[in-house]
Amino acid sequence: ALQLTLAVIKPDAVAHPVILEALHQRILENNFIIVRSKDLVWRRQDSEKFYSEHAGRFFYQRLVEFMSSGQMRAYVLAREDAITHWRELMGPTKVFRARYTSPLTIRAQYGLTDTRNTTHGSDSAESARREISFFFPDFSQETWMERE
Ligand code: CMP
Repeated sequence: ALQLTLAVIKPDAVAHPVILEALHQRILENNFIIVRSKDLVWRRQDSEKFYSEHAGRFFYQRLVEFMSSGQMRAYVLAREDAITHWRELMGPTKVFRARYTSPLTIRAQYGLTDTRNTTHGSDSAESARREISFFFPDFSQETWMERE
């Protein structure tokens, strides 16, 4: 069965057109259907709200600042096991661990730091639902799934 996930290319990667294009190709090569996509810039309060579960962690302020520092590209992706597949392509959150354990992943190849780690992906069906409606409030996930 098809599953939806939210994938985000973060400001560090969007700033480099060659990297942005490489990541877009990576999505296509891995048999994801691009259901929706858009370029956007967050205000600080969007960033704070999206990452509220991390409020209080040592990296929260730098994360919030980074994610509202420039353009992002967000995608609703569909595939079998989309959530797991996108997370496998991204690799571990921490870039230096990613380089060591999984050098062919997106974060290993393009990530700059543990915060500027190139991409985001939903980590469960529940967060995919929440995150897709956060980025794409007008997109009806139920309607799309029923039609497929
Ligand atoms: P993301 O998948 O978007 O989810 C939370 C984000 O917080 C993560 O990617 C990183 O950008 C950031 N993050 C998580 N852990 C750390 C850390 N240990 N140090 C700095 N930033 C982090």
